[in-house]
Amino acid sequence: MSLNVEAARAAIGRANRIAVLTGAGVSAESGIPTFRTNGGFWQTHRFEDLATPEGFARNPARVWEWYEERRRGIAAAEPNPGHFALAQLEAQLETTKSEFTLITQNVDNLHQRAGSKNILRLHGDIFITRCMCCSHERLETSPLKELPPKCHCGGTMRPGVVWFGEMLPEGTIERAGAAVCQSDVFLVAGTSAQVYPAAGLIPLALQNGATVIEVNPEATDFSDAVTIALRGTSADLLPQLL
Ligand code: OAD
Repeated sequence: MSLNVEAARAAIGRANRIAVLTGAGVSAESGIPTFRTNGGFWQTHRFEDLATPEGFARNPARVWEWYEERRRGIAAAEPNPGHFALAQLEAQLETTKSEFTLITQNVDNLHQRAGSKNILRLHGDIFITRCMCCSHERLETSPLKELPPKCHCGGTMRPGVVWFGEMLPEGTIERAGAAVCQSDVFLVAGTSAQVYPAAGLIPLALQNGATVIEVNPEATDFSDAVTIALRGTSADLLPQLL
């Protein structure tokens, strides 16, 4: 075990309040592509076409086909040791009445399936379908029969995720900010930290004196600023931090 891993482990062991921010990298070892690295989605697809309100207005069926393909991939995937380690850490902290908040940018459901409970989902849930007319929401994990799906009110339904240029689900970034400000340790895993407001939680934690631990095989814009930068994958490193 490296000195850095030992230092991170010790900081986590001492902490009474832990907040965690995850990104697509924590699901990479479950076979789900990331967005910006290793042939990630935004290296092969135009986000303007697939992840903006304008792209959906232009061609809802094309957008839905892409989300259906991703939903199929996620449904067939399994949580990896990184997801399970975070769920185990939450369970451990529960027994000592310490606080744990998992903030994720991921729209997959692998944290829940691994057993994490206190989750703030900044970018929504890919298995939720929302009506653009009456805002009715449905949780749908099986393949959709028509694209785009229709609501009982006749309205067109969209994926329950956040697209570029849209607001985050009400209250989520505020609750995330509060958890980060109160945390002794802020663990950041598998995110390129390029998308705001999520990335802004990292300087916020540093300004509030938290020990910030980054887990990522590659350096990010925040690697030099964080307290401990661990180079490696989340499935490998997160279990070592418990
Ligand atoms: P990115 O694709 O931008 O970044 C993924 C990060 O994970 C990179 O820094 C990789 O180095 C790292 N990584 C890759 N494999 C890893 C592994 N096995 N273990 C740990 N880290 C690994 O994904 P996000 O930062 O999550 O937004 O992207 C943020 C947002 O941009 C997403 O939520 C999505 C996207 O557009 C919306 O859909 C609104």
